[in-house]
Amino acid sequence: MIPETPSVLIPEKEIRHRVGELARQVSADYDKAEELLLVGVLRGCFIFLADLSRLLTVPRRIDFMALAAYGQNAATSGAVRLIMDLRTNIAGKHVLIVEDIVDTGNTLEYLLDILLPRKPATLKTCVLLRKRERLEKDVKIDYLGFDIPDLWVVGYGLDYADRHRALPYIGVVENEGKGISR
Ligand code: IMP
Ligand code: MG
Repeated sequence: MIPETPSVLIPEKEIRHRVGELARQVSADYDKAEELLLVGVLRGCFIFLADLSRLLTVPRRIDFMALAAYGQNAATSGAVRLIMDLRTNIAGKHVLIVEDIVDTGNTLEYLLDILLPRKPATLKTCVLLRKRERLEKDVKIDYLGFDIPDLWVVGYGLDYADRHRALPYIGVVENEGKGISR
């Protein structure tokens, strides 16, 4: 079987342009902060975080958390499991969560719920993609790349069943994306 090539939803050039804008915005906002701690949410964030972090002009550190949804399919059941916690003590730090995509908002809500009690100086969120129609939780996104339609997207770090993560653009896998129950 020849693997299907995902169709382009957001081209590489557009992503690069938007990530540049976000980096300028974040750099301006944290200009006065001594240091910014970027918290990447693995695995989907890895390319977005790599690009964003290199464009920032403010002092920054990087740490990671890994989460997984319960269950095997692409559908997000809502339940989230912590697989790897931060190494950094975030008390008193300026923390920016870097996420690939917000779908229902469950994951981001979970993250905010576990990080806020650790008393960071500030806690904000930077999200590349949001499916506005799917949102169930009232989570605050401070920096947003793009609003997208209710489609399963891949590439630029995002996967479908662990495939297509390294695509340079955001794409849609027509056949695989259809009929996903969630
Ligand atoms: P939420 O908890 O429903 O907001 O889902 C967020 C998580 O589900 C994201 O961090 C992704 O890991 C995954 N996810 C949701 N939609 C997509 C998609 O279209 N493509 C790839 N992963 C997705
Ligand atoms: Mg994610």
